[in-house]
Amino acid sequence: MTSLSASSTLREDDQLFRLLRQLEKAPEASQRATAEALGISLGTLNTQLRAAQNAGLIVVSNRPGPDRRQRFAYALTPEGTAVKNRLIDAFLARKFTEYAALHAELTGSASDLVPLKYRSKLMQSNLAPIPELYVSYDSAQKLKIEAGELTSHDLTPRQICDLELLMNGGFYPLKGFLGEDDYNGVVENMRLADGQLWPMPITLDVSEDFAAKIEEGQDIALRDQEGVILATMTVTDKYIPNKSKEAEKVFGADDLAHPAVNYLHNSAGKVYLGGPVTGIQQPVHYDFRARRDTPNELRAYFRKLGWRKIVAFQTRNPLHRAHQELTFRAAKEAQANLLIHPVVGLTKPGDVDHFTRVRCYEAVLDKYPASTTTMSLLNLAMRMAGPREAVWHGLIRKNHGCTHMIVGRDHAGPGKNSAGDDFYGPYDAQELFREHQAEIGCEMVDFKHMVYVQERAQYEPADEIEDKDNVTILNISGTERRRRLAEGLEIPEWFSFPEVVKELRRTKPPRSKQGFTVFFTGFSGSGKSTIANALMVKLMEMGGRPVTLLDGDVVRKHLSSELGFSKEHRDINIKRIGYVASEITKNGGIAICAPIAPYTATRRAVREMIEEYGAFCEVHVATTIEECEKRDRKGLYKLAREGKIKEFTGISDPYEEPQNPELRVETENVEVDNCAHQVILKLESMGLIAGS
Ligand code: PPS
Repeated sequence: MTSLSASSTLREDDQLFRLLRQLEKAPEASQRATAEALGISLGTLNTQLRAAQNAGLIVVSNRPGPDRRQRFAYALTPEGTAVKNRLIDAFLARKFTEYAALHAELTGSASDLVPLKYRSKLMQSNLAPIPELYVSYDSAQKLKIEAGELTSHDLTPRQICDLELLMNGGFYPLKGFLGEDDYNGVVENMRLADGQLWPMPITLDVSEDFAAKIEEGQDIALRDQEGVILATMTVTDKYIPNKSKEAEKVFGADDLAHPAVNYLHNSAGKVYLGGPVTGIQQPVHYDFRARRDTPNELRAYFRKLGWRKIVAFQTRNPLHRAHQELTFRAAKEAQANLLIHPVVGLTKPGDVDHFTRVRCYEAVLDKYPASTTTMSLLNLAMRMAGPREAVWHGLIRKNHGCTHMIVGRDHAGPGKNSAGDDFYGPYDAQELFREHQAEIGCEMVDFKHMVYVQERAQYEPADEIEDKDNVTILNISGTERRRRLAEGLEIPEWFSFPEVVKELRRTKPPRSKQGFTVFFTGFSGSGKSTIANALMVKLMEMGGRPVTLLDGDVVRKHLSSELGFSKEHRDINIKRIGYVASEITKNGGIAICAPIAPYTATRRAVREMIEEYGAFCEVHVATTIEECEKRDRKGLYKLAREGKIKEFTGISDPYEEPQNPELRVETENVEVDNCAHQVILKLESMGLIAGS
């Protein structure tokens, strides 16, 4: 009964609102035109008009004129206008409640959003809701069905991260993937075409084949890797970027040693599509759901707790004691609450995986006073762009409601360039941030390097220690920490928390117990398979870990029988080998691979795949092409010379020699056993097998 009368009242309210709005819009229209606009009969319209007139909501006056069908004019009384506005408010409030209930159902937490008109005028701008790109739940359901008909783009893991932050307001003011003018502005001078500060190109890179199917003005569906439609995009721009220029300007050098430059040249598609995005649903995360918050959820949380100043700590590494001290000091300095805001999207290849890190963060979180600190996970795909990345991180944190952000030494640094030097100066990021701080809208709390002062048993910024010469300063570098963990050596309590060390050791046992991959590369007939076989037998003799040999010929028979020797097919072949080897490595085994693998970029891709889980030892079997041809065990070189085998490596196809392999072995006048022994010695020196 109750719900019936409530819904009939709702219907009446809706009818009255529509009538008042229509009369206001077309006060002199004929009754027939008004009835048609409202989709009701003339009789119903007359009943409604009479009721509204009786209630004092409208006045009806005669309208002189020849057309008898337009005899009357209607106007809303002040009461009528007030009722119409009240109905609008009630409608919005109802929608808001529906939204809040839906939000709570989906996320398990209250959205805490407040409709604009009820918001206190004093609400701090960093805490007011930020625009998102999602449509309402009802529209999303419809759009999802319609989008099923559209041409689809399957998003890469990095694009999924970017899309999530576009849709939830993390990348505000972006409304979609960058069009050409915005892209050029961002690359050139860190500004969108309208002049707003934005340092990082957020682009939808696609293959040339896909781009050829797309016309400007067309809508496309954006799907995750399981095929779920997350958004649609209206393609306003299709353009071919100058990637070398992008690398120079954004990352500081067109050098493949930079992970983002490597991605740009070797993973990203050749064409960029740009255009506004309409959000349908958030990407699904099955892990640590309670720890993931959208910018609006975080803003609501800060409002609820009455936090006015919030300092964010961006990190992609486990937290040790120095970090805790740094964050404590930052919060004190800014007189702010602390948000530990680790990146769990994509970080630097080789970083500790985010599952382990989050368990480490949770262990450390107990060491902060609960009322001052919180942690939230950020699904950002980092680019390791140092200074530009710091500015970008500042904008993202501002969008998440933070007033301050910590920028330390070498913020988002990518490591060494191919000449062995750092890409950026250690404090370049702080400088660029400082320059743009006002525009970012998030203040920097800068920190210098923190070191441990033994006599005072505490961490202090290195440059603030006045009695340097009279105290003992302790410090463990990142490289040293990794070495100690890798070799199972002690990590002192002054350096880290036992809970963190335990967690790290659990995921990464000492190297001598981890899986690894030995990857031989060299010409056909160079001796790769023979050495690989000898190595396998030696490792099996030692025991302890299962050993698998993925020989070129064998793989071609069992894994890649349909492939030929074009560049494309060779790359697929090597990536398959890399995938299998990475699974073996992940599960604690030893993979020995022995393909030709002629391309540097593909070998690097395999290295990255494997180094996520264990060590990668590249061995260049450096037998010259002349010697291989002389040996010609399989008679293939002869056929290649006669043109009977096409695209033959070293004869009619390229071989890019590895520049920095872990080991290079010469085979001419050297016994196979000796070559295999050299590999064993290398593995020992890398800590991968315990010395005898
Ligand atoms: S690749 O480039 O890494 O995918 O090649 P790979 O799978 O290692 O090649 C395995 C063997 O295929 C034989 N073969 C050729 N090699 C190079 N180029 C051409 N066109 C070709 N056609 C056949 C060759 O014997 C390789 O053997 P080994 O000696 O194992 O390297």
